[in-house]
Amino acid sequence: MDGASTATREILVTGGSGQVGTELQRLAMPPGWRIVAPPRGELDLADPRSIAAAVRARPWAAIINAGAYTAVDQAESDVVAAWQVNAMAPAALAAAATEAGGIPIVHVSTDYVFPGDRAVAWEVDDPVAPLGVYGASKLAGELAIGTAQPRHAIVRTAWVVSAHGRNFVKTMLRLAADRDVLRVVADQHGSLTAAADLAAALAAVAIRMAQDDGAPAGIFHFANQGPTTWHGVAEAVLKESAARGGPSAQVLPISSAEYPTPARRPANSLLSTARITRDYGIAPRPWQIALNEILDELLAAPGPATA
Ligand SMILES: NC(=O)c1ccc[n+]([C@@H]2O[C@H](COP(=O)([O-])OP(=O)(O)OC[C@H]3O[C@@H](n4cnc5c(N)ncnc54)[C@H](OP(=O)(O)O)[C@@H]3O)[C@@H](O)[C@H]2O)c1
Repeated sequence: MDGASTATREILVTGGSGQVGTELQRLAMPPGWRIVAPPRGELDLADPRSIAAAVRARPWAAIINAGAYTAVDQAESDVVAAWQVNAMAPAALAAAATEAGGIPIVHVSTDYVFPGDRAVAWEVDDPVAPLGVYGASKLAGELAIGTAQPRHAIVRTAWVVSAHGRNFVKTMLRLAADRDVLRVVADQHGSLTAAADLAAALAAVAIRMAQDDGAPAGIFHFANQGPTTWHGVAEAVLKESAARGGPSAQVLPISSAEYPTPARRPANSLLSTARITRDYGIAPRPWQIALNEILDELLAAPGPATA
């Protein structure tokens, strides 16, 4: 047997405790591939030396940067910390990857790089104009990755949810457990993204990039399919929750003006996924199907009691 050809190839993942990082570690990877996600104590994205040491630690086949400063409202008053993790960390990762011989990097970015001021889905090459600190810092991270080395994929996503971590689905279920009526913004448009679906796409892109120097590079979008609003998502969550015996509530539509937040949000976050389908054959499924799987996990009936 040829030992070299059967050696496991390892993909370094940052942000392993986050929604996307968790799903990356839950993926059933193809034989011969392994996800390695060091904890923050071993890979601190606020510390360029820690980043460089983690990249040097092993001969990584690829890097997936799923870690980020994701507190959108807090970022407005915590500017340096947001830029440290969302802009400087990608720069440090890219520099270390280049120094290590050009390790391909798959970097997760956001719909918040767009101003959201038009009705149709955003294409990968549409003009960017972030509305706040989080979006600006993520855009800087994109630029750092995109200019460092050719072997990169910047994967923008939006409205990420899962059965773990902090997200809109879990918030709706929590609020509905205490209240009969929820008031939810109905004038922000987008599509939901299941962290598990995104993780599978990120891993597929990373593996292809690791195997093929000529794999398509640049900017891609990934989100589950179908337009909706936060109000539409809330209604779907609570309808499906009720069907599973979970909490339910009436959902009333409100405007963004009625729910002021420190950071402005794009009115339209819908992302066109045409390029990732064309270049990688990845076709995201409808958001409702992905959401149902998350609710199955969150609201699974307890198993039969054991003695
Ligand atoms: N969530 C969304 O709706 C959304 C939308 C568009 C794009 N995105 C992008 O998708 C990616 C993944 O998001 P997510 O929802 O999985 O985020 P998340 O659940 O908030 O997880 C963020 C991860 O980053 C880690 N992190 C933050 N600061 C760090 C530091 N200094 N050192 C090491 N790790 C650090 C966190 O670690 P701790 O657990 O230790 O804090 C956590 O593991 C990010 O790039 C985000 O910008 C998310």
